[in-house]
Amino acid sequence: MLSKTRIAVLVSGGGTNLQALIDAQKRGDIKSGEIVLVIANSSRAYALERAKNAGIPAAVITKKNTGGTQETFEAAMIKALDEAGADLIILAGFLSILTENFTRRYPKRIINIHPALIPSFCGKGYYGLYVHEAALKYGVKVTGATVHYVNEVPDGGEIIAQKAVDVLPGDTPETLQRRVMEQAEWILLPRAAETVSERIMREKANLTGGKND
Ligand code: GRF
Repeated sequence: MLSKTRIAVLVSGGGTNLQALIDAQKRGDIKSGEIVLVIANSSRAYALERAKNAGIPAAVITKKNTGGTQETFEAAMIKALDEAGADLIILAGFLSILTENFTRRYPKRIINIHPALIPSFCGKGYYGLYVHEAALKYGVKVTGATVHYVNEVPDGGEIIAQKAVDVLPGDTPETLQRRVMEQAEWILLPRAAETVSERIMREKANLTGGKND
């Protein structure tokens, strides 16, 4: 038996994408990976409740409670990820930009979901509702979501999957956000999580000559 990819999910807020991952794992749509840890960078993140309800270990790691600098914050996350033996890190609505010091440790092992079709409406400052506000302001008729690998450039890593979603007359940032989540994010992220988990599972098996558990 190949041993599954160990997945850590990093969150900041409501955690609907985390929920989509948990549900996909329960359904068996994610079968090559297993969520072993949730890290929230805010103790108020509702995502923590979702982790608890699913029986997944969760940790709150904030800049404030780890020494106050990005360096100490990232070091604390690396420690927690190492302890959990995480092979794949999924950013699911994680609102802190990670530095190269962090990302270079995990080449092609960190993925992120962005609520627009990269290279549109992405990069620094484009997060949450701001993304949808910008799309509406520009007047695009189609937007969507992108799953991509994470490197040191915000929203700049290689694209894994994209899905388009119509912008409808009368849309507000909130209605558009909801449609993008329902029609793209919650479908795309679990699918990408399985594809990448499968690759990592095979890589781990090759490293151990086919026997990795
Ligand atoms: C999602 O739109 C995600 O794409 C973005 O932040 C939002 C997080 O939502 N990066 P949730 O916490 O998964 O509900």
